[in-house]
Amino acid sequence: MNTRIITIDGPAGAGKTTVSMLLSQKLGCIYVDTGALYRGVAFEILRQNINWENDDILEGLLKKLDLNFVMEENRLVLMSSGRDISGYIRTPEISMLASSSSAKLQVRSALLDIQRNIARTKDAVFEGRDMGTVVFPEASYKFFLYADLNIRAKRRFDEMQEETKDLSRVQKDMEIRDNKDSKRMSAPLKPAEDAIKINSTFLTVEQVVEKMLEYIEKA
Ligand code: DC
Repeated sequence: MNTRIITIDGPAGAGKTTVSMLLSQKLGCIYVDTGALYRGVAFEILRQNINWENDDILEGLLKKLDLNFVMEENRLVLMSSGRDISGYIRTPEISMLASSSSAKLQVRSALLDIQRNIARTKDAVFEGRDMGTVVFPEASYKFFLYADLNIRAKRRFDEMQEETKDLSRVQKDMEIRDNKDSKRMSAPLKPAEDAIKINSTFLTVEQVVEKMLEYIEKA
C-alpha cells in the first residue's frame, strides 16, 4: 500500500467519529466511516423488505447492491443506487439491523472491496470495527478507542435529536450491539495485536487526537 492509512476501531459511542474527523483534518487526509456501509446494507434490507436471514435472498440483494461514497464539500456522502441516503441511516432500527446483518460473512465480503479501493489512492483515516484486524492489517497506524459503557451511552444520548429519548434504553441497546459486534464469528470487534489502545472515558476529543498525533509524529 503506497498510501498512509490510519485505522480507528472500537465500540459504539467511544468517540470514533468525532476523533476520526478531527484527526483527518489535522493530517489533511480523508475520513471514511465504514459503519455507514453496513448501515447502507441495513437500509436496503428494510427498503426492499427482504428476509436477510435467508442466505440466498441476502445474496440476491448483495449482487444488486450499489453503494458508494461521493466527496461533497470535503466529506464523504453515502449513496445507494445514486441516491444520497446519509440522512436515513442513523435511526436506532438501522443501528440494530446493521449490527445483526454485519455478522453475515456475505455482507462483510461484499463491502471489502469498496473499502480497500478507497485506500488504494487516498491517504485516509478509516473508522470501524475490523479495520486494523481484517480490512487493513498493513495500516500505518492502528488505534483502538474504548470507554466505559455508561459514558458512551450518555454521549450518544446527548447527540440524539429525538424529543422522546430514554438514557437507559440507549445504554441497553448499546450493550446488546457491543455484544453482537464482539461475539460474532467473522471479523469481531477486537483490538489488533499491534493497535494502540486509548481509553476515552475521561478524555476530550482534542486530548484523544493529541495522543494519536503524538504516536504518529513519534513513529
Ligand atoms: O460504527 P457504526 O455504529 O455506524 O456501525 C454500525 C454497525 O455496523 C455496527 O454495530 C457493526 C457494523 N460494523 C461492522 O461490523 N464493521 C465495521 N467496520 C463497521 C461497522
